[in-house]
Amino acid sequence: MTRTRPMYVASLTEGEAEAGYLILRDGTTAMIRLAESKDRSALQMFVEGLSRESKRHRFFSETNPPAELLASLCDNSDPRSLLTLLVTRTWNDEQHVIAAGSYLAKEENTAEIALAVDDTFHGKGLGTLLLERLALLAIRHGFVHLWAVTHADNLAMREVFKESGFDVHEALENGDMEMDILLVPTETTVTRSEIRERIATTASLRPFFRPRSVAVIGASRDPSKIGAKLLEALIANNFKGTIYPINRHASQLRGLRVYPSMRDLPHPVDMAIIAVPCDAVLGVVDECANRNVRALIIITAGFAEVNPKGRALQERLVQQVREHGMRMVGPNCFGLVNADPAVCLNATFSTHFPPFGRVAISSQSGALGLTILAAARRLHFGISTFVSVGNKGDVSVNDLLQYWEEDPSTEVILLYVESFGNPRRFARIARRVSRGKPIIAIKSGRSPSGSRAAGSHTAALAQRDVVVDALFHQAGVMRADTLEELFALATGLSSQPLPPGRRVAIVTNSGGPAILSADACEAGGLVVPALSEQTTARLATILSSAAALKNPVDLIASATPQQYHQAIHTLLVADEIDALIVLYTSVTMSDNSAIADGIVTGITAGRAAGAKGKPVLACWMAEGDHDRSLMTNHETVPTYRFPETPANVLSKAASYVEWRAQPIGMVADFDDLNLPLAREICEKAVVRRGSGWLTTEEIRAVLAAMHLPILPGGVAPTADEAVGIAACIGYPVAVKLASHRLVHKTEIGGVRLSLHTAGEVREAFAAIRERLAHDDNLDAMEGVLVQPMQADGVEVMIGMTQDRLFGPLLAFGLGGIHVEILGDVCFRITPLTDCDAAEMIRGIKGYRLLEGYRGHPPADIKAIEEVLLRVSRLVEEVDAITEIDLNPIFAMPPGQGCHIVDARIRVGPVEAKANHI
Ligand code: COA
Repeated sequence: MTRTRPMYVASLTEGEAEAGYLILRDGTTAMIRLAESKDRSALQMFVEGLSRESKRHRFFSETNPPAELLASLCDNSDPRSLLTLLVTRTWNDEQHVIAAGSYLAKEENTAEIALAVDDTFHGKGLGTLLLERLALLAIRHGFVHLWAVTHADNLAMREVFKESGFDVHEALENGDMEMDILLVPTETTVTRSEIRERIATTASLRPFFRPRSVAVIGASRDPSKIGAKLLEALIANNFKGTIYPINRHASQLRGLRVYPSMRDLPHPVDMAIIAVPCDAVLGVVDECANRNVRALIIITAGFAEVNPKGRALQERLVQQVREHGMRMVGPNCFGLVNADPAVCLNATFSTHFPPFGRVAISSQSGALGLTILAAARRLHFGISTFVSVGNKGDVSVNDLLQYWEEDPSTEVILLYVESFGNPRRFARIARRVSRGKPIIAIKSGRSPSGSRAAGSHTAALAQRDVVVDALFHQAGVMRADTLEELFALATGLSSQPLPPGRRVAIVTNSGGPAILSADACEAGGLVVPALSEQTTARLATILSSAAALKNPVDLIASATPQQYHQAIHTLLVADEIDALIVLYTSVTMSDNSAIADGIVTGITAGRAAGAKGKPVLACWMAEGDHDRSLMTNHETVPTYRFPETPANVLSKAASYVEWRAQPIGMVADFDDLNLPLAREICEKAVVRRGSGWLTTEEIRAVLAAMHLPILPGGVAPTADEAVGIAACIGYPVAVKLASHRLVHKTEIGGVRLSLHTAGEVREAFAAIRERLAHDDNLDAMEGVLVQPMQADGVEVMIGMTQDRLFGPLLAFGLGGIHVEILGDVCFRITPLTDCDAAEMIRGIKGYRLLEGYRGHPPADIKAIEEVLLRVSRLVEEVDAITEIDLNPIFAMPPGQGCHIVDARIRVGPVEAKANHI
């Protein structure tokens, strides 16, 4: 039986829940970790510092609890019986505990929970965050209920429990409130946790984008140095807040008073831009912390990008930033821009300031950031905010996505990505953000899985950059292959509405470019439909007799501005059209401006007549007049240089619109999974034999634990037992070598099919044995697998390979030669939703075979979807599995299920396996 649950549950992977940082409701940060015995005195200080009221609520007494109790809370050696988390913040060079929470086993499935938050930190969401972490860890350690008792008047704590979104039952017992919390993630817990994360992240980033004051630390006297240029950019672009240059050796720079250090500033500062040499950065950050700076941009290079020493320095820097409750962009970055005229923040070392508009940009390359800012002006697309994330020590693209999701100035998001720090979090967040705002990304570099030696079909097929494609597809992210395409999409999507459908009209004054454009439309899945009689008739009345009235509508070389106007107006309002491409090839340079006017007024007329939601894109081919902008009073019409470009932009935009219209999808869960058994088998195999393939018997046990449909039969170590199994399952049977060492069985004569008698089974057993003995491989034989012959059905395959960074990558294709020769395979990353599974099956070219084609019976697609979802659960839950090949699977006609005929599962030590956190 299948249950479904929302997909965004496992937002914190193993290790992340026990230690990391929290973003509080006010946007500051704090560190969280398991308590250790050395924390006794810090915990004691925390407890003693609580107000009498807080002590009464936490310990049911206003006196301090005994030291032994606090000492026992610091022992996390057995998380099945007790676990304590501490939240810390550093000030005055000392780490302070600001919140603490524990659970204590009460019964087999229930743990008692208690927490307290420093009185000065109340109201910042700490209690809820602590409860969320404790709940997650309690679930991981086998608890199903949390239980708490509070004073009935402790409304704040009761609110924390209710706010968590878990099912909470309250009961008044002897004047106190007993609360039982059922630890089953529900849509509400997941949604609330997401909303909390989004609000807190947005609050923590606001000081970067809207600082009231900025300090430039390292503002050099030498105008050629980066520190001087940072100051210049802030001043030159009229930053609306206060600027404080910091330099020990100057008293005035560019007309501003200079302060020797942060300590000397007269007022608090929201943000500091740091451009001092690498070895001075930590000291400067410390000074910033002491002045309660909220946001740091660290331009300085020489950290993780250079060597292990730099990496260690960066780790210390990040730790220091987070412990002090600050946030940091960089290090090794080009800076940040907010082009909003109310802010005018250019916190980069270039004076290129882009026009204000709707596109938010994150770039992992500083140099490219500079190019993007320059291109924005040249290509007429406005920017809301720009961030060069550099080494992404703290603020990541995932954080920025959440900020931009909430930012009213941002309508399109552009990402230049070189590497993913946390691709699973990216998948989760981007999937949500894309529902509201288009994300366009360019990813350089190839997936690390490409260089891995392939041991299975799936691994061999996953050699290309498929994992990034799968990630972007599932998250609704439009992938640009080139910078040119990135800009083309940015200009198109930021200035025009999204196409409501795939039907495109093309209007042109020359045939060749129109054919190229129409071809590009069709190659991209768009339709260039025949025009209705009504539209054709209207065009006939306004165009010259030589004009071609079919789609593309060719106005011929002598096209007048008036004809462009009328054709555009007519096509824009035509019901059979969703989008319009306007092509213009200059014949005589002198006509250009008049034609541009004709195009612009035609669009204005079409819009006025009601065609508001249809995008118009243009191609302007005029020697010496390439960068013409077509602007009406209300919109900019993107103009491209080549006729294929608008087609490509519309095609990607249409696919995005379709993706957005799909239901969001749920991760399917199943009531009948025995995950502990599957995990145990795999982990034991690793302990016994190290990395390698599971034995046939182990594979069958794992698949059975997941209720995956394996063919009946079994493994027989002797010929007699093989005959016994054959008799049980009925003839004809197949006999196959069972060996975890020799996986390519056919090549060594290890597969015997269509055996009808006991004699044939014995003979097959002996032949396989003999062949192995001949090859000196007899000890690799575990026996034979005896299965019934599978006569009909469509052969499909399902596989999984681990990507070092992205985690499990699932593959689906037709079985046999289709997968090996044609490579007709669809990949997706896990966790798979029901929509992903349905789409994977429909995503291969051979799907028509599964629907039933020329005498082939159709296949049970629902059953294949279920296998995909069960395999997704298996690989998500059993970390030791590194590769799976279920090939072939025979899909029977609808309602009759499917049968896994051959299966391979490879396992490996968890530490050595993919790091997909
Ligand atoms: N507090 C305040 N000011 C300080 C300071 C401190 N602790 N330490 C140094 N300074 C001042 C210096 O006095 C100097 O000012 P001055 O020229 O008026 O004397 C200024 O900061 C710069 O110091 P300097 O030693 O001259 O450094 P630099 O300019 O040679 O290099 C960086 C500093 C950050 C630019 C350099 O270390 C760097 O990392 N460059 C690469 C940056 C980069 O590429 N980033 C990524 C872009 S995508």
